[in-house]
Amino acid sequence: MKVVSVEKEPSLGGTCLNVGCIPSKALLHNTHLYHMAKHDFKHRGIETGEVKFNFKAMMDYKVNAVKALTGGIAMLFQKNKVKLVRGAGTIVAPNKVEVKGEKGVETVNTKNILIATGSEVTPFPGVTFDEKQIITSTGALSLESVPKKMLVIGAGVIGLELGSVYQRLGADVTAIEFLGSIGGIGIDGEVAKTLQKILAKQGMKFKLETKVLGVKKEGSTVKVEVEGAKGGNKETMDCDVVLISIGRRPYTKDLGLDKVGIALDDRGRVPVNNKFQTTVPGIYAIGDVIHGPMLAHKAEDEGIVCVEGIKGMPVHFNYDAIPSVIYTSPEVGWVGKTEEDLKKEGKAYKVGKFPFLANSRAKTNGEPDGFVKVLSDKATDVILGTHIIGPGGGELINEAVLAQEYGAAAEDVARVCHAHPTCAEALREANLAAYCGKPINF
Ligand code: NAI
Repeated sequence: MKVVSVEKEPSLGGTCLNVGCIPSKALLHNTHLYHMAKHDFKHRGIETGEVKFNFKAMMDYKVNAVKALTGGIAMLFQKNKVKLVRGAGTIVAPNKVEVKGEKGVETVNTKNILIATGSEVTPFPGVTFDEKQIITSTGALSLESVPKKMLVIGAGVIGLELGSVYQRLGADVTAIEFLGSIGGIGIDGEVAKTLQKILAKQGMKFKLETKVLGVKKEGSTVKVEVEGAKGGNKETMDCDVVLISIGRRPYTKDLGLDKVGIALDDRGRVPVNNKFQTTVPGIYAIGDVIHGPMLAHKAEDEGIVCVEGIKGMPVHFNYDAIPSVIYTSPEVGWVGKTEEDLKKEGKAYKVGKFPFLANSRAKTNGEPDGFVKVLSDKATDVILGTHIIGPGGGELINEAVLAQEYGAAAEDVARVCHAHPTCAEALREANLAAYCGKPINF
């Protein structure tokens, strides 16, 4: 196909590359290394001089990581003959997109349109972000110094990841969460509890079941007024910086959907069928702007099958086999159903658990916190969900996704030879426990 990509931001790559997954992982990785060097090296027999961090250099590293990857996209566009039109696109007719750029308006006539405009931060009613003291994740990725006291509103993925970054650099971090548990949507309850315990041990504080009533700047202090989610005493909490991370919402501003007759659903998403077709022939949508988890890898895979569908090929997408990862330390990874889901569905299931404490590699590496939990169908042994909290959980989960995508039973994974000593053996053991009720090494 002849392809034109319309982009309004100067840097290609969208939220993930510019102000999401990639810069946050640069900061998470490097602050983790700093934390290890400062607090963990000595007992491993590694002696250093005084360990200090250089915040500006850390931020520069992040900027360079982002630059390298966004630059890579421009090269791939060139190599694959994708024409880039810079500016904000509006769909003015089913086969016509108007792009308002620096050089004026350009009209692109096209056979098909694929909407992949993603999402934006959900605003907090009555609060204006200055991105210095009252910040979104974007501001948190570009602070000029480490705040002494940081409040995080919303203990979901962003709150825990970016809260961890600043907590490791010495900030006093408290996460305020409306619900009674942390980790956001889709996390298994037992995993969430374990994660909270581990992060609390690292120094992060939590205020759960708490409602935020208001956020106000007073000089260099930000005052956050809270009360119990079910009512109760009001309290004002002070901080230097407040990060608001209460979710994201689909981004469809000025896209012209109303002009072509595409109505959004009750959550502002573009409705599509199972081929990613909107109600207007020739207009498709994928990613954060449609249903499902707001994850870059989900959008990427939807994009591929959607375009194959346009070419007449089959379109299959298995929403039960999309991994989620929280890149804290330890990492959390999961795929498929949680125990809470299965209970709600009234499905009979088996649980196989294996702690990293009993995994030789994790123990030897001094990373024994966490476990693997496998949920499989009681009657057929088919894997329904896998939940990992532990070393390399974000990598390990991909093996579980592969198994689930191929419809494996817990026995299938339990009988696959795994390299020893690796953390992945914990996944095998948890599958063994789900399959026959007992692992070997615990
Ligand atoms: P989230 O949905 O993960 O968490 C938001 C949290 O805020 C929830 O726990 C919710 O209960 C809480 N909350 C909502 N309103 C609140 C209020 N008024 N007061 C207190 N708590 C409140 O959303 P988050 O962390 O903002 O992330 C946004 C999106 O970005 C998510 O869709 C996430 O999947 C994606 N993301 C993914 C990452 C990854 O895959 N590792 C990393 C960062 C973001």
